[in-house]
Amino acid sequence: MNILILGGGGREHSLAWAIRQNPKCDRLIVAPGNAGIAAIAECADLDILNGNALAVFAEENGIDLVVIGPEAPLAAGVADRLRQAGLAVFGPSAAAAQLESSKSFTKEICVAANVPTAAYARFTEAGPARAHVQAHGAPIVIKADGLAAGKGVVVAMTEAEALAAIDDMFAGHLGAAGAVVVIEEFMTGEEASLFVLADGEALLPFGTAQDHKRAFDGDTGPNTGGMGAYSPAPVLSPEVEARALEQIIRPTLAEMARRGTPFSGVLYAGLMIENGQPRLVEYNTRFGDPECQVLMMRLGAQALDAIQACAEGRLAEAQVNWADDHAMTVVMAAQGYPGGYEKGSIINGLDRLPDDSKRAVFHAGTATQGGAIVANGGRVLNLTARGDTLQQARDAAYAMVDAVDWPEGFYRHDIGWRAL
Ligand code: AMP
Ligand code: GLY
Repeated sequence: MNILILGGGGREHSLAWAIRQNPKCDRLIVAPGNAGIAAIAECADLDILNGNALAVFAEENGIDLVVIGPEAPLAAGVADRLRQAGLAVFGPSAAAAQLESSKSFTKEICVAANVPTAAYARFTEAGPARAHVQAHGAPIVIKADGLAAGKGVVVAMTEAEALAAIDDMFAGHLGAAGAVVVIEEFMTGEEASLFVLADGEALLPFGTAQDHKRAFDGDTGPNTGGMGAYSPAPVLSPEVEARALEQIIRPTLAEMARRGTPFSGVLYAGLMIENGQPRLVEYNTRFGDPECQVLMMRLGAQALDAIQACAEGRLAEAQVNWADDHAMTVVMAAQGYPGGYEKGSIINGLDRLPDDSKRAVFHAGTATQGGAIVANGGRVLNLTARGDTLQQARDAAYAMVDAVDWPEGFYRHDIGWRAL
């Protein structure tokens, strides 16, 4: 089977790493890929938002399966275009990807399907939004409706912060994403992520994870895309997971199918759990980054069988065999991230790192320059390991961090603290 993966971060490196291990995989191409991915797959410099060009490329290269990593191509309808071309595609249609690309859409689905989530209101003008905040007080959560690369949510602990966020969004600082604003009740509890594959009919639970969004130790500093993750998430016990599937995931999928826009791909539910009761924080319609890295580390080659079955509408036949294991990934980022940072600093020591079925370095933002690996993004490396216990996974991941020689990078020292 010839497989094309779209994307070029740590998520896509881990997908390529797992897929490559499956003997069914003949040719593996990743577009655009990165310096780490180039060691295990062909990289193709394609515009991953251009469905027509991708369809031509897939035809010319005899591609059988396309796996879409990030959200932007989904929202742009790339899965629709590739399905039209007759390809098996892992990733939802643009209509179903609204579960991520529009927060108010998701809220409407939750109301229609009776899914437990925060109470909300939707606004298209600052005046009524400000009045809503003044009537409800803080803490309160202000969200830009559209895709905002992780910058669209303000958890306001004071009324002043909430009002500033509203003014900011309606001033156009997030572009079109902020033209509609959703204001939500502030939820308390512990957060965790549940991943579920769905093919429009069947569903297959695909693992749990917890991440660390703040940049610095002790969950301090600015919000990032994620500084590390571990799987499984202890707070998602079998009972809580079953409740989330019955009360949140199944009703959502049923409502999407009822509307004629069935969801096919991976549904990533961000959950808030309090007293054993999960509530939906948000959906993403793709794997999390870096959550995918710990799922792939645990699943290995069987990830491809499930992804293929999902893309071909045969998910009812698929299953996954989870080992009783734990995985952790630690992100190394460029100093300054998530604000401004330099590109081009040299990373040494990568060739000394172990690379086996239990330990891998996934490249998030790297490039090759004159034979050296250099930083080429904000999040740069994901040191990922698996063990019988979370402590073992942690020790192995941090041993790899210690072996990397990159003075221009930084990382958190406390990934997994809550579970350890
Ligand atoms: P999102 O970008 O939607 O994942 O939101 C970012 C983070 O904001 C979430 O991971 C939560 O920590 C927090 N958040 C979002 N919505 C709420 C809410 N209604 N109550 C409390 N925290 C929230
Ligand atoms: N790590 C959070 C995300 O992928 O959205």
